[in-house]
Amino acid sequence: MESKMKTVLITGIGRRLGFFLAHQFVELGYQVIGQYRSEREDLAQLEALGVKLFQADFSQRQQLSDFCQQLQQFERMDVVLHNASTFIADQAEHSVAQQIELFDAMYMVHMLAPKLINESLYPALKRAQGCVVMMTDIYAEQPHAQFRSYCASKAGLANMLKSYATFWAPDVRVNGIAPGPMLFLDEHDQQHRQKVLAQTPLAKEGGLEPVWQAISLLVNNDYLTGCSIKVDGGRSLAQW
Ligand SMILES: NC(=O)c1ccc[n+]([C@@H]2O[C@H](COP(=O)([O-])OP(=O)(O)OC[C@H]3O[C@@H](n4cnc5c(N)ncnc54)[C@H](OP(=O)(O)O)[C@@H]3O)[C@@H](O)[C@H]2O)c1
Repeated sequence: MESKMKTVLITGIGRRLGFFLAHQFVELGYQVIGQYRSEREDLAQLEALGVKLFQADFSQRQQLSDFCQQLQQFERMDVVLHNASTFIADQAEHSVAQQIELFDAMYMVHMLAPKLINESLYPALKRAQGCVVMMTDIYAEQPHAQFRSYCASKAGLANMLKSYATFWAPDVRVNGIAPGPMLFLDEHDQQHRQKVLAQTPLAKEGGLEPVWQAISLLVNNDYLTGCSIKVDGGRSLAQW
């Protein structure tokens, strides 16, 4: 597939940040390639904008492997955004089997998928002298005790960005964004929201625009690699 258009891959494109980023890149004239897991009505809107969509659940080995095979069709990849994520707390009452299932899913979505996607796209990234942005979390450095598996796997991703930044230099740059309270999930109750905002010096939910500003910086500044930007309203200064 030969194209002179700039191309971006966004994982987890079906909602929230991924969905928002798809629109930003379409507006900039990129060919947007998107991975989604769940079928949603909004995906038709992306298709109408010319976004090419691939369905894959990264916690399923065969689906992840098939997705990576499909990526090898792309001749050129300017930007890869590892955004797909699963945010689930560990539960004390979980059986060993449930703990294995949860940890496997965290490991596969946050570490194995970005690793395999990177390797599959390396020739295309190199051809474009492109860049990769990993969406990590401030919890990667300062874990939340209720989300032990999530935090450990995001820490793995934050570590991986440094090894790829070194390994792929000078052809491909690799950076990350560590968000704090960007956008609460529907399941976050008022008490949780108030607690988090009380620990955040800028005392508000950041929204998607500040993350987009940081991604734009990482994509456009060609002297940045191995770097991670906290977009967290200062929350990482707090203890929790
Ligand atoms: N929201 C925050 O305040 C916050 C804070 C810190 C870090 N972050 C990070 O910032 C990024 C964006 O956050 P967000 O809140 O927009 O994320 P999100 O709403 O939780 O969803 C991310 C996407 O990941 C996809 N996904 C989940 N499990 C998957 C799986 N097994 N296989 C493939 N895809 C899967 C979902 O796909 P489907 O919808 O298609 O199922 C969803 O579109 C994430 O990496 C997140 O960890 C966010």
